Amino acid sequence: TTLSLIGAPIDSGQRRRGCLMGPAAYRVAGLAATLAELGHQVQDRGDLTPGPLPEATSPNPAVDQLPETLAWTRALRAALAGALAEGDMPIIMGGDHSLALGSVAGAAEHAARIGRPLFLLWLDAHSDFHTPLTTVSGNLHGTPVAYIAGRAGFDAFPPFPAPLPGENICLFGIRSVDPAEHAALLGTRIAMNDMRVLDERGVAAPLRDFLQSVREAGGMLHVSLDVDFLDPSIAPAVGTTVPGGATFREAHLAYELIHESGLMTSLDLVELNPFLDDRGRTARLMVDLVGSLMGKKVFDRPTRSFG
Ligand code: ARG
Ligand code: MN
Ligand code: MN
Ligand code: MN
Repeated sequence: TTLSLIGAPIDSGQRRRGCLMGPAAYRVAGLAATLAELGHQVQDRGDLTPGPLPEATSPNPAVDQLPETLAWTRALRAALAGALAEGDMPIIMGGDHSLALGSVAGAAEHAARIGRPLFLLWLDAHSDFHTPLTTVSGNLHGTPVAYIAGRAGFDAFPPFPAPLPGENICLFGIRSVDPAEHAALLGTRIAMNDMRVLDERGVAAPLRDFLQSVREAGGMLHVSLDVDFLDPSIAPAVGTTVPGGATFREAHLAYELIHESGLMTSLDLVELNPFLDDRGRTARLMVDLVGSLMGKKVFDRPTRSFG
């Protein structure tokens, strides 16, 4: 499997400019070389560009940069579905989290075409479960999980291909949920592994449970990694920091477990804002963590088998 690096310099999902510098920062921090050193075939496909801006408005006047986000959604969906159809593992270098409106749609389109269920692991401080009608901030990076789960309110968007049932979605590390998201999430079967759960059970037990369910279903697995999943003390370069995030060790363990499962089929790296970074440390940390996600370990022990 070739790892296909796809730059998505999208900044329209929120108002603090800088996420568009993310792909450049991943390249400067050596993402491709790190993956190649682990023995992977790596191809950097360069940066995507959004097509022409559609005309679109939302009944919610708070919604910001809807045409830009729609154009990116279309481009990302095509890019993901295309890379997966070629047999590659796409790794999206974002870009803010609104890119997942397109990337996960592309993964779902491909999964439906080949008749496999798609699962989603969302590593984030936030649940991103607003719709364009419920968002208060108007920042569309707070909406992709709702789109993926098939919630109503996305009339300006193309219908999501084969929305994911709640039990196929796992939120992991969450600690900031708005009231409207909270109410809507309670009516779903989405796994809500908030920091309370991780404090009590650790990262390994709930993650293994979810990976086991993916394995049993023969599913594909899209992993969406928001920088703010990590504690701001180790990852300051993000516009929406929330205290109490995953530590360095928790994050590495989580990624090693995902790697060992062998289940991941596509990946987003989102919300890195290099303009807010401290001498590149967040970009370098993300590259180091993606190393764990793609097979870097201290000792090469036999892989733990699940089930
Ligand atoms: N819930 C908040 C909002 O809707 C924050 C969303 C943050 N999302 C993110 N991808 N960082 O504005
Ligand atoms: Mn997010
Ligand atoms: Mn977040
Ligand atoms: Mn941001």
